Amino acid sequence: MIYNFDQIINRRNTNSIKWKVNSHELPLTIADMDFSTAPEIIQALNDKIATGVFGYEDIPSSYFTAVEAWYLKQHQVNLPSEWQLFVTGVIPALSSIVRRLTHPGEQILVLSPVYDIFYHSIENNGRITQECPLIYDRQKRKYQINFEDLAAKLAEPQTTMMILCNPHNPIGQVWSQEILTQILELCKKYQVILVSDEIHGDLVLEKPDYTPILSLDSDLNTQTIALVSTSKTFNLAALHAATAIIPNSYLRYEVNRGFNNDEIAEPNFAAVTATIAAYEKGAPWLASLKSYLCQNKQLVQQVLDEKIPKIRLVPGNATYLLWLDCTDIPESSTEIVTRIAHHTGLILADGSVYRGNGSHFIRMSIACPRVELKDALSRLVMASKFL
Ligand SMILES: Cc1ncc(COP(=O)(O)O)c(C=O)c1O
Repeated sequence: MIYNFDQIINRRNTNSIKWKVNSHELPLTIADMDFSTAPEIIQALNDKIATGVFGYEDIPSSYFTAVEAWYLKQHQVNLPSEWQLFVTGVIPALSSIVRRLTHPGEQILVLSPVYDIFYHSIENNGRITQECPLIYDRQKRKYQINFEDLAAKLAEPQTTMMILCNPHNPIGQVWSQEILTQILELCKKYQVILVSDEIHGDLVLEKPDYTPILSLDSDLNTQTIALVSTSKTFNLAALHAATAIIPNSYLRYEVNRGFNNDEIAEPNFAAVTATIAAYEKGAPWLASLKSYLCQNKQLVQQVLDEKIPKIRLVPGNATYLLWLDCTDIPESSTEIVTRIAHHTGLILADGSVYRGNGSHFIRMSIACPRVELKDALSRLVMASKFL
């Protein structure tokens, strides 16, 4: 089947959070896509809606087997059904895990700059963020983990959990097997629970592929929790479904109890139906999406190289979120995004919210039809005169 990613869908005045902007403004900000989801998913939802009965529902075993089959086929990793818990989103699960498996006042480590909501899950629950800033090589535009710093911080007795973003939003990098193994070894050595947010794992646009943390040595994964979801991959964020994968039965019991006590853990029919359809039937659509996103990315690269050399793309291969290096511009990212919005109506994400060295970077989503991206890029070229 040919999928049409060029189709423009007007999301203004649709309750979309991203599109709650003025009529002249164009937002390439938060991580959802301006594409319709896979037709196979829409069909499954339509079929379910046609039954007309929306009473309380349980999670069918086909949900867990669909997750299992997807990960085996797409990522060659075995995530048995019995390790899985249905959760109503990666962040609700993360916050619940933080509350259930750590204590107020303890430190939770993150590699910054990282997805800003991690900080909320930690700090809104009275835990302390322990940042291990990634080292940035401006020449190569590449981030690396400072393992000396990581080891020292994980060794602190107050550090009881690490939250990893694998692949890493916002820098768009996948972590190699070697690096993940080093992280696991350190977490094991210092008895730190590792939570790996793998929500972007299916959105790796070019090789090398992402490594699911649970594909590594099981002896190192006794205190690991992986969080996966179709919400980014298939643009289903508003349906609220994700899966926590927890090999350790004690941790799984605790998280399950915590989630059921603290959260609305009841699945809604749309979340379950769409997730099953995505995992069972969505692979061809996803392959097409990734090739469209690759072309979008090449277009951005070309325009930056030719017309805006002071903004440089950080060359990651994962996610549809581009991380743009503005270190050649003296102003902070807050000032830069404000000026771009003021002069052209293009709205981009201010890198400072991700902490670390984010205050010299901006983040741009390319998950939109090419016409929209071209409009954004011509606005960016215009705005560059004011930077
Ligand atoms: C790394 C990461 N984790 C989690 C989320 C949100 O997940 P959910 O909507 O399932 O809570 C996002 C959304 O952008 C994300 O980038």
